[in-house]
Amino acid sequence: MVEKMPSVTEREVLAALSKVQDPELMRDLVSLGMIKDVKVDGGRVAVTVELTTPACPLKNKIRADVEAALRAVPGVEEVGIEMAGRVRPAAKEAPAIPGVKHVVLVGAGKGGVGKSTCAVNIALALKRSGASVGLLDADFYGPSIPLMLGLEGRPTPTEDGKGIVPLEKHGIKAISIGLFIDPHQAMIWRGPMLHGALIQMLREVTWGELDYLVVDLPPGTGDVPLSVSQTIQASGAVLVTTPQDVSLADVTKAKLMFDKIKIPVLGLVENMSNFICPHCQTATPIFDTGGGRRAAEQMDIPFLGEIPLDLAVRVGGDEGKPIVTAHPESPQAEAFMTMARNIAGQVSRVAHGEKSEPEPKPAAGHQCSGCGGC
Ligand SMILES: Nc1ncnc2c1ncn2[C@@H]1O[C@H](COP(=O)(O)OP(=O)(O)O)[C@@H](O)[C@H]1O
Ligand SMILES: [Mg+2]
Repeated sequence: MVEKMPSVTEREVLAALSKVQDPELMRDLVSLGMIKDVKVDGGRVAVTVELTTPACPLKNKIRADVEAALRAVPGVEEVGIEMAGRVRPAAKEAPAIPGVKHVVLVGAGKGGVGKSTCAVNIALALKRSGASVGLLDADFYGPSIPLMLGLEGRPTPTEDGKGIVPLEKHGIKAISIGLFIDPHQAMIWRGPMLHGALIQMLREVTWGELDYLVVDLPPGTGDVPLSVSQTIQASGAVLVTTPQDVSLADVTKAKLMFDKIKIPVLGLVENMSNFICPHCQTATPIFDTGGGRRAAEQMDIPFLGEIPLDLAVRVGGDEGKPIVTAHPESPQAEAFMTMARNIAGQVSRVAHGEKSEPEPKPAAGHQCSGCGGC
């Protein structure tokens, strides 16, 4: 007589998965509430893993760990894993902007280092990963999002006249201080005026439900970026720098500014890293190289990735066709996708009360799985 394998129970499945950790949040998947829809049918087990963001940098690793844990349960013959993502708001406080789960500030570096370029492409990369995203251009000195995103027209009032409908482009919602001012008129923003304009943009724009609102900040650490950062309650800030020393000095000041106003720094981005010659593919470190990574290490913050100095990135910005949507398969777009996943991972950490920490260094001989987790 053939002995029948005992059928697997849901309890055994959950017990096995309670030993699988989210490597970023350092807690097990069951207590994090990430395991949904457990289905057991004899030796067949199917589960849905609901990550804390669709842009999870460790998706592949978590999937592999879940599969290994399930296959180790006696009696399991077949495993089905569905990976889903739902961004959860920070547990402690009510969202600063209704419907918006996380606000991510981008900036505080020197002018011209590529803050707006990064803000636009990070927003689009988060969108491409499956998140709902808005982009707020709060650069009162030189709003450039309308040009870079290719926004057309002006925002309109809502039907009841109480709100402002944001524009939409490339699948994200966007609003810019530049859409409310005459582009030919030099504006001198004084404290109360700036505060009023900002509050209006924050309170009256009807964003709807957003996983992430990316904010393009004014350059530097003077009164204007400080007051913008203080007014917008953010989940965290991303610092943008180029690799050379003058730019790195500014970013160190920016880190101090965010520390002072208690906004977690999610990490550092190095823009305009090596220039890759389109003709011979030789890499030339026009603005030096590796400075961003070193600065991140010194400041003890995560290094979120690097973007090369690249003609297509500049052209995309000037033509309102950002590289992430115009050339999604390009290595530059991939670099932004990796960066966005790293940012989303850090936001999840902060939202779960974890300190934003530098990425662990990959072990010797480590093979990159391409998930962006390293
Ligand atoms: N990685 C890059 N490669 C090529 N050009 C870039 C890159 N990043 C930014 N630029 C260009 O540099 C200029 C300044 O970038 P921008 O994003 O406006 O900087 P910031 O917002 O910090 O002032 C823009 O013309 C932009 O297209
Ligand atoms: Mg800018």
